[in-house]
Amino acid sequence: MAPELYIGLLSGTSIDSIDAALLDLGANQVKLLATHSEPIDGPVKAQILELCSPGSNEIERLGILDRQLGVMFAKAANALLQRADLNPAAIKAIGSHGQTIRHRPVGRGRESTCAFTLQIGDPNTIAENCAITTVADFRRRDIAANGQGAPLVPLFHRAAFSRPGTTRAIVNIGGMSNVSLLAADGTLLGFDTGPGNVLLDAWINQHKGEDFDRGGEWAASGSIVNQLLGTMLTHPFLSQVIPKSTGREDFNAEWLLQLLGSDPRQRPEDVQATLLEFTARSICNALVRYVEPPFEMYVCGGGSYNTRLMGRLEGLLHPSPVKTTAALGIAPEWVEASAFAWLAKQTLEGLPANDTAVTGAIGPRILGGIFQR
Ligand SMILES: Nc1ncnc2c1ncn2[C@@H]1O[C@H](COP(=O)(O)OP(=O)(O)O)[C@@H](O)[C@H]1O
Ligand SMILES: [Mg+2]
Repeated sequence: MAPELYIGLLSGTSIDSIDAALLDLGANQVKLLATHSEPIDGPVKAQILELCSPGSNEIERLGILDRQLGVMFAKAANALLQRADLNPAAIKAIGSHGQTIRHRPVGRGRESTCAFTLQIGDPNTIAENCAITTVADFRRRDIAANGQGAPLVPLFHRAAFSRPGTTRAIVNIGGMSNVSLLAADGTLLGFDTGPGNVLLDAWINQHKGEDFDRGGEWAASGSIVNQLLGTMLTHPFLSQVIPKSTGREDFNAEWLLQLLGSDPRQRPEDVQATLLEFTARSICNALVRYVEPPFEMYVCGGGSYNTRLMGRLEGLLHPSPVKTTAALGIAPEWVEASAFAWLAKQTLEGLPANDTAVTGAIGPRILGGIFQR
């Protein structure tokens, strides 16, 4: 069978790097062939973060950053091509998620006509600089059809990771955390569970200047503050019914500081321990609401490298086995970028890529705009 090569490009809520994955999607297979990660430097990350909440002169800043990120995404794709020793003509399309700077889906008092989501990283620039047809802006059609615009990865998770007769949970722990429940009978559920690494990253950055808590070691040096944990677990997003999706709008440093406001004397490592427990519990509580353990659980995203967090997930879901997606053939840090290669193929083939039970959209829709090479 002839190969069908696609590239997936993604920068998630963590804003840690632009991930580029080359896949062969021929004959309905999902085969990861090559990868490249392009770091995002501090000043660009700061500009992205500034656009994640309302501020002045937004259109000017947005326009410039959109183009800059387009150039960076194209650079990541071109570096991947070079690594794989391929010409642009060998690639059917790039699927580019872009960088989310706002996610305001319908729900919690927001009217459908006011809901919006915005991913930037100009696809015109990617198509131009790579000479490859680029599919982008995947989420907004689902929003227009009254959906959450997220999560969009569950159909890919099912295509890549399902096994008939077996119930599997695929949990992506990026900045935020989302789950796909692949039931033994083939039915699919998917939703955001709340924070992934975002709060852990924010707290260690504020106290130690580090980008993330490697292995969750700093968290492990602290003790859980039970009262604080209890308050965190009352966050309204956690009890919201599905379909639901979240972002930095719901879980951010300001929210945490507000919670700590009443008792700012907590030891920082105890707060980190509490945040890790909160992250683990919010994921597991959401899971067991929809599926009874034991089930097979596979984790992807950078959070799968937080050994402390993985240990807590295992403890909370015992006796369900908790592994990473490496056990299913795709290294955890490449699953989401791979999903956008797969989503681009769906678009080119005129196939829907939203699952209405997941996003709540009124119907299946072909997602994304196509920017010809
Ligand atoms: N070795 C590690 N230990 C702990 N956390 C890690 C490790 N490696 C990655 N991470 C976490 O994963 C995050 C990146 O995850 P990623 O899946 O790229 O998220 P996103 O999709 O939001 O960009 C980092 O910000 C960090 O919090
Ligand atoms: Mg990332």
